[in-house]
Amino acid sequence: MKVSVIGAGNVGATCADVIAHKELANEVVLLDIKENYAEGKALDMWQTSPVNMYDSRITGSTNDYSKTAGSEVVVITSGLPRKPGMSRDDLIATNAKIVKSVTEQVIKYSPDAKIIVVSNPLDVMTYCAYLTAKIDPSRVFGMAGILDTARYRAFLATELNVSPKDIQAVLMGGHGDTMVPLPRYTTVSGIPVTELIAKDKLDAIIQRAKVGGGEIVNLLGTSAWYAPGASAAQMVEAIVRDQKRIFPVCAWLQGEYGLNDIYLGVPVKLGKNGIEEIIELQLNDEEKALLNTSANAVKEVMSVLDNLDY
Ligand code: NAI
Ligand code: 2OP
Repeated sequence: MKVSVIGAGNVGATCADVIAHKELANEVVLLDIKENYAEGKALDMWQTSPVNMYDSRITGSTNDYSKTAGSEVVVITSGLPRKPGMSRDDLIATNAKIVKSVTEQVIKYSPDAKIIVVSNPLDVMTYCAYLTAKIDPSRVFGMAGILDTARYRAFLATELNVSPKDIQAVLMGGHGDTMVPLPRYTTVSGIPVTELIAKDKLDAIIQRAKVGGGEIVNLLGTSAWYAPGASAAQMVEAIVRDQKRIFPVCAWLQGEYGLNDIYLGVPVKLGKNGIEEIIELQLNDEEKALLNTSANAVKEVMSVLDNLDY
């Protein structure tokens, strides 16, 4: 079974590395447009196999999509990352061209693949891949919610001085500063988080999670890769192992949460068929209002894409 990762930069290489370490596929193909870049990274990773004790075969390719043929899952990470001062939306024109051309090749060689989009602006690039691939939206979705929730959970683990393993949380909405963490659905080993932390501290953590991507851009001069790469690999795992895991995923909504024709982060069940179910939480009025604000922000950028000649 084959999994391909398009874009061998920071996120793509990290994702491929995690996939190989966890032996999620016996063949992992890393592809980039930059001459020899994916080949070099794949060779370096393959040379960790005797040390790290795995046997997933990892190979690289410069833009030869025939090497990705028959992939079960394809992760698209190709595209520019943001620099300090840029929003994710500033990347739209350049990354739409890249995501469109990549998706055309991906679907030509792997017509049955599940496609996980990572490139930013995430919700709109997932929409771009969906428009290009012309396949059922249960097979085209985006990675953001696992990462955003991981940031929120990591900050809570630090504040409460508990294991991050014990923190369960859901976060909805677009992958931007309007994302919607849901304290009502956050627990520490089943204990509502609101019983363990003061409201002002929880509010500060929610705010930090919302701008968590920007915090790293300011520190590094480019965007994050360890947590994004691991998060995308966790989605691959749920699919190839048919785990039926419940994750926040950027999914195509057709009436769920009262929203139509929009890619937005919602809890879904992920298994071998991709998105097997969209889970509708009973949001209260405040949560619904926050979700609608986030949906409006995503719709605005979707309409930029709709009017773009790319
Ligand atoms: P990077 O610059 O390290 O890597 C991007 C790679 O894409 C480069 O190696 C480049 O050569 C390659 N590429 C460009 N055009 C291509 C094409 N047409 N075909 C194949 N490869 C091509 O960037 P990084 O840090 O890996 O980020 C990748 C994307 O993921 C960015 O758009 C970034 O904003 C986004 N991102 C999204 C996250 C999310 O939560 N959804 C989290 C982190 C990053
Ligand atoms: C992140 O959240 C920039 O989307 C990227 O790290």
